[in-house]
Amino acid sequence: MHTDTLRSLAAKRGLLIGTAFCSGAFKHHPEYGDLIAREFNCLVAENDMKLDVLQPVRGQFDFSRPDVMMSFARKHDMKVRAVPLVWHIALPAWAEGKTFSRNEALDILREHIFTVMQYYRGQVIAWDVVNEALSDKEPGLRKEGPWYNSIGTDYVEQAYHMAHEADPQAVLFYNDYNMDCMNDKAGRCYMWIKELLARGVPIHGIGLQCHFQLEWPPAKAALSDNIKRFNDLGLIVHMTELDVWLAKDASADHLLQQAEVYCDIFQAALSAKDCPAILLWGLADCHSWIPGQTGGKYDHALIFDRQYRPKPAYAAIAALLRGDR
Ligand code: XIL
Repeated sequence: MHTDTLRSLAAKRGLLIGTAFCSGAFKHHPEYGDLIAREFNCLVAENDMKLDVLQPVRGQFDFSRPDVMMSFARKHDMKVRAVPLVWHIALPAWAEGKTFSRNEALDILREHIFTVMQYYRGQVIAWDVVNEALSDKEPGLRKEGPWYNSIGTDYVEQAYHMAHEADPQAVLFYNDYNMDCMNDKAGRCYMWIKELLARGVPIHGIGLQCHFQLEWPPAKAALSDNIKRFNDLGLIVHMTELDVWLAKDASADHLLQQAEVYCDIFQAALSAKDCPAILLWGLADCHSWIPGQTGGKYDHALIFDRQYRPKPAYAAIAALLRGDR
């Protein structure tokens, strides 16, 4: 019987293992905080650092929700990733569906980025400055949201320059989904980031969200190759929102297959030159965004079940970190 926790095993391998923190779940389920503190050494706010929460009224900042997570992290000696400063989703009513003049939109981004980054200065290991800016299907940015619509394509680089100015020590990431392996979107992202770096845009890391489905598991080699090409640009890679979705009526066998997929992903991070953090998108299946996001089609995406019991993926990851597989 092993008594190690994922957090202690990961620390021995120089890895941060994190989870998305939900202040509501923390408040209502006593076992939630206990399990997180025992098993993880890194946190990210699932929703509490998004624009609609931090600035519900324009110009009035409310840090009370993320501060619950920040003090929990301090108490339990955990690192924190801060996400996201700029996104086309999770907008407060004053920004949703709005187009501003270019200068007004730049002023809004500047005020938000400066206020939030200065508030948490020195307390977080990484910032996702821009989230999900790329189009899924065609070259270039997705043409939606108040920042693209008001500022134009250079809103992304403007945001990175502002973030660097707000805190020159901060580690700045670009984060996106469905570009974890060597697919078209990942290729477009790679070329785009390379171009931004060549123009002196301060980007230091890439966040691969890693939302996977058991039906289309990631090929380990393709995940490794993708991490490698970003590392070769001098960028750190984090796996930022890992989950592995199963069909709603998954069998015991599916849970075993899920464990293998989780292991492949951890293996890719461990064998990479610079992929020192893996964050799961939630603690236990009862809190996962997946059933809601997929209309109930998918479920069981995390490594603890609805009763906070470890699933086969937990044991498999522990064995991998221990060196037993
Ligand atoms: C999701 C949260 O998990 C949900 O609770 C919320 O309703 C919507 O956002 N990519 C991201 C995350 O960058 O912020 C998203 O989180 C999941 C997809």
